[in-house]
Amino acid sequence: MALPQPRVCVTGGGGFIASWLIKLLLSRGYTVHASLRDPCDPKNAHLMQLDKARENLHLFKADVLDCETLTPAIEGCRGIFHLATPVPEHKIVDPEREVLDPAVKGTLNVLKICSTLKVHKVVVMSSNAAVTSNPNWPQDRPKDESCWSDKEFCEEKEDWYSVAKLVAEQEALEYAEENGLNVVTLCPPYVFGPLLQSTVNTSSKLLIYIIKGSLIVPVNDIPSPLLTVELILLIFCLITSKIVFESSTYFV
Ligand SMILES: NC(=O)c1ccc[n+]([C@@H]2O[C@H](COP(=O)([O-])OP(=O)(O)OC[C@H]3O[C@@H](n4cnc5c(N)ncnc54)[C@H](OP(=O)(O)O)[C@@H]3O)[C@@H](O)[C@H]2O)c1
Repeated sequence: MALPQPRVCVTGGGGFIASWLIKLLLSRGYTVHASLRDPCDPKNAHLMQLDKARENLHLFKADVLDCETLTPAIEGCRGIFHLATPVPEHKIVDPEREVLDPAVKGTLNVLKICSTLKVHKVVVMSSNAAVTSNPNWPQDRPKDESCWSDKEFCEEKEDWYSVAKLVAEQEALEYAEENGLNVVTLCPPYVFGPLLQSTVNTSSKLLIYIIKGSLIVPVNDIPSPLLTVELILLIFCLITSKIVFESSTYFV
């Protein structure tokens, strides 16, 4: 008889990629804790309609900036997928409040709770934005794990999302090293695909702007390749299938 799959937690569970991940985990027999800022918000209603959700999905009201609310979501879980981060659509007015604090402090909060609760593995969803915005990287040199976005360059451009993802990933890896926590980070480019949720997330809006021809920058200027949600799910499958990776950062 197959052993039951372990309990795992997905932060930001109502988001575009997180919803697909939860669907995948439920279909593979995992019991899933999803942390949401507002489980009663109708925009999260799709989650309890997923196959096996009634039996195996548990929703927790939690903000990543509030450890007290986060802890019950993480308690009892063997693995954590940390996806909760604001993905801003409009120009940011207050970078600390809107994106830096939830991304950086939020990630560290998750990791600290994982250390305390002795979580076996933490997957931190970083982004291409953390590693590709670097004008000084030689054109002819393939990007590898030593390549990071240039913080000053991103700050000058007021690209606060890239700054947030860069600092959050670097601090997560540093924390993991110092505290012996098993952390891997993923750096996907723009992710597109069908939506499970009823609202349209930021990366999907970009696709809609492209299709409608209302994008304000030329498509060729989008500094990132595109990835389908199916591919990101394949990567999650690999991570959950106990394959031992040598590296702690995956470029996809
Ligand atoms: N989509 C892409 O192209 C892409 C590419 C690379 C990396 N990523 C990363 O993948 C992750 C998910 O992205 P997505 O496209 O699926 O975005 P999304 O649909 O906007 O989901 C982001 C989630 O984060 C939650 N969140 C934001 N601030 C929070 C806070 N303070 N506490 C708790 N939850 C908070 C949001 O919850 P609310 O509903 O309550 O606001 C939302 O559910 C993010 O970490 C993003 O940086 C995305």
